[in-house]
Amino acid sequence: MARKYTTFDQVDQWKSTMFLYSSALKSINTKIEILNNEFIQLYNYNPIEHVTSRLKTPSSIVNKLKKDGKEVTIENMVEHLNDIAGIRIICSFMSDIYPIADMIAKQADITVLHVKDYIRYPKTNGYKSYHMVVTIPVYLSEGKIDTKVEIQIRTIAMDFWASLEHKIAYKFEGNAPDYLEAELKACADMVDVLDAKMFSLNQAITELEEQKSQEAEEDRE
Ligand code: GTP
Ligand code: MG
Repeated sequence: MARKYTTFDQVDQWKSTMFLYSSALKSINTKIEILNNEFIQLYNYNPIEHVTSRLKTPSSIVNKLKKDGKEVTIENMVEHLNDIAGIRIICSFMSDIYPIADMIAKQADITVLHVKDYIRYPKTNGYKSYHMVVTIPVYLSEGKIDTKVEIQIRTIAMDFWASLEHKIAYKFEGNAPDYLEAELKACADMVDVLDAKMFSLNQAITELEEQKSQEAEEDRE
C-alpha cells in the first residue's frame, strides 16, 4: 500500500515539475514576442524570424541523467539538467543575435546562469549558435519558483546546418564517416559566407531605403 502512495506522490511531483517548466516556457515566449513586436513598432523591422520551444521528453530526460552518471530522480533532473525547457530563437541576420541576447539578459526578472558562445567560438564540427541558460520566476499560489530555461539563438542558415548535423549525428550515434564530417564542416563554412553576404546585402538595402526617404523629404521641402 505504502508503495502505491509513493508512486502517486512521484507522479504528482513529476506533473508539478513539468508544469513549472511549461509555464516558464510560456513566460519567456511572451517576453520574446513583446520584444519582437516592439521592434516592429519602433523600427518597422522584426529581428526574430521565428521561435520554437519544446519540453524535453521523459525518455530523453532519463537517458541524459544516465549518461551523466546520475541517479534518475526528479531532484537530480531539476538540479543537473539545463534544457528541460528549451527555446530556439531563429533570426535572419548574424547582427541580430547579440542584441536579442542582450535584450533578454537585461530583463529584470531574468537571471543568466551561463552562456556558451558558439558564434564567437564555433565547435570544431562547425556548429554555431549562442546558448544561454537562464532562470525565470514562475508565480504560483504559494510563491515564486525560479525555473531554468535553455535559450539558443542562431540564424536561419545556422539552424539549417544544425538540423542536418543533428540528423547525421543521431543516425551514426556520433560515429559518422570521416567524409560526411568533412562535408558538414565545408557546409558550415558556406553557412558563414552566406550569413556574411546576407548581412551585407541587407545593409545595402537599408541604406538605399534611407537614402530614398531622405530624398523624398528633401523634395517636399
Ligand atoms: P548537451 O549537449 O545537451 O549535453 O549539453 P551541454 O552542457 O554540452 O550544452 P551545450 O550548450 O553544448 O549544448 C546544448 C544543446 O545545444 C544541445 O542539446 C543541442 O541542442 C545543441 N548543440 C550543441 N552542440 C551541438 C552540435 O554540435 N550540433 C547540433 N546540431 N546541436 C548542438
Ligand atoms: Mg553538448
